[in-house]
Amino acid sequence: MPEYYPTRTEINILTKLQDDLPLFLGDSFQLVELGSGTSVKTRLILDIFAKLQTKTEYFPIDVSEILAESSEQLLKDYDCLHITGIIDTYEGGLEFLKNYNNKKSLILFLGSSFGNFAPSEGRKFLQTVHSTMKPGDLFLIGLDLVKDKQILESAYDDSQGITAKFNLNVLSRINDELDADFNLDDFSHHSVYNAKYQRIEMYLKSLVNQSVVISKSNLLLNLAKDELIHTEHSHKYRLDQIHNLLSDVGFEIKHTWLDDDNYFSLTLVSKSST
Ligand SMILES: C[S@@+](CC[C@H](N)C(=O)[O-])C[C@H]1O[C@@H](n2cnc3c(N)ncnc32)[C@H](O)[C@@H]1O
Repeated sequence: MPEYYPTRTEINILTKLQDDLPLFLGDSFQLVELGSGTSVKTRLILDIFAKLQTKTEYFPIDVSEILAESSEQLLKDYDCLHITGIIDTYEGGLEFLKNYNNKKSLILFLGSSFGNFAPSEGRKFLQTVHSTMKPGDLFLIGLDLVKDKQILESAYDDSQGITAKFNLNVLSRINDELDADFNLDDFSHHSVYNAKYQRIEMYLKSLVNQSVVISKSNLLLNLAKDELIHTEHSHKYRLDQIHNLLSDVGFEIKHTWLDDDNYFSLTLVSKSST
């Protein structure tokens, strides 16, 4: 959607990396990706690898089985790719790879997925990434930046109602998978930018007084009219906060790339030698 700037902005920055990233990579790096999803953005990094090496080892990690489909598609389009897909959590995948081989890795974490962690969880997550990295490994993290409230709120409440559908979809999933009786017409999408905590907060608002049964969880949920169900936080960062956080955890900042509007950032770090 026109309002949802993060995806296209991150893709724009990734295209800028075509000349810059090789300066940080030798020809022996392998690629690891946390939350690879459809691996669409990954292609921009794979194009860089294809210019540097004749065979690329790619390790996508995702809890979703979409990984199998995305990998199949990549194998059709890239001749020199070898993929070891890991359907697991970020932490499970990193642990599996920790002693897998001695090759240096570039670890990707795109899509500002880091913003979905609460700050304390995020710090722990970065410590886990850091502790599983070998000397010489690199970590590239995409993070959405603090910006005008109006731009942020429009991105998460677009005029086509796509984010609203995405948010309400969690109720459909609960209906299907936990045998519940949510009536989606009795809820509306509600999102707001909380400037104090620098985060978009997404909720589902109950439009009526209602009771919902979630059979498989043995739960009866009583909701008052206008009561909110919290579904997601998406934290936004300032550049200095990103650099301080990464340095505090022990990373050495190599480079940060931004788009022309300073909406989004990609930061490359290594495991600090100290
Ligand atoms: C917002 S999508 C981003 C996809 C892709 N990296 C991009 O930037 O377009 C997040 C992906 O992370 C996966 N994911 C979410 N939480 C995860 C976790 N704890 N461990 C592993 N994968 C996870 C989801 O299944 C999804 O494919």
